[in-house]
Amino acid sequence: MLTVRLVRGDIAAYSADAIVNAANSSLLGGGGVDGAIHSAGGPEIMAECRRLREERFPKGLPSGQAVATTAGRLPAQWVIHTVGPVYSPQDDRSDVLASSYRESLRVADDLGARSVAFPAISAGAFSWPIESAARTALETVVQADTQVTEVTFVLYDQAAYRAFQRQAQRLGVTVE
Ligand code: APR
Repeated sequence: MLTVRLVRGDIAAYSADAIVNAANSSLLGGGGVDGAIHSAGGPEIMAECRRLREERFPKGLPSGQAVATTAGRLPAQWVIHTVGPVYSPQDDRSDVLASSYRESLRVADDLGARSVAFPAISAGAFSWPIESAARTALETVVQADTQVTEVTFVLYDQAAYRAFQRQAQRLGVTVE
């Protein structure tokens, strides 16, 4: 049974078995969630990202996929890095966005993580409209076949928090 929670705040400060980073293919850092995670988590996370690039993803992590590293100094045990799609009004990439959530949960299952915190993947620098991002996020996690028992969406601002509340109501998803 999956419990879904909505909270406002900084995901880097959130305590869960695993937190999800809205990364880019380079895995070598950026702004937004990515910047917050690396700056609060310390250099260990980046060192592991560099190794991943050298050993497993020489061309970068493709969008819709996910991979885990240590969480360094963060309260979480692991960071799961996923690359959401860049929003395009001409091209429906919702399946790639859904895949980022599903693949993150699959990696969480491999780690044995039971609680996972997500940001609103793609809804910042990658320009995904928040209502649509929230709908895909909620729909995908409630339909996922996973051992994870707690998913928390950590939303940075009130607008994102409200959008997740509205979409949960529309989809009939109970949120705490
Ligand atoms: N905690 C929780 N949510 C946050 C935080 C934070 N510390 N910082 C930003 N957000 C919110 C944004 O307001 C947005 O709603 O997370 C959502 C995703 O925003 P981004 O972090 O910009 O992620 P994304 O849109 O997927 O873009 C990824 O941004 O920083 C780069 O390296 C990253 O190139 C990649 C791109």
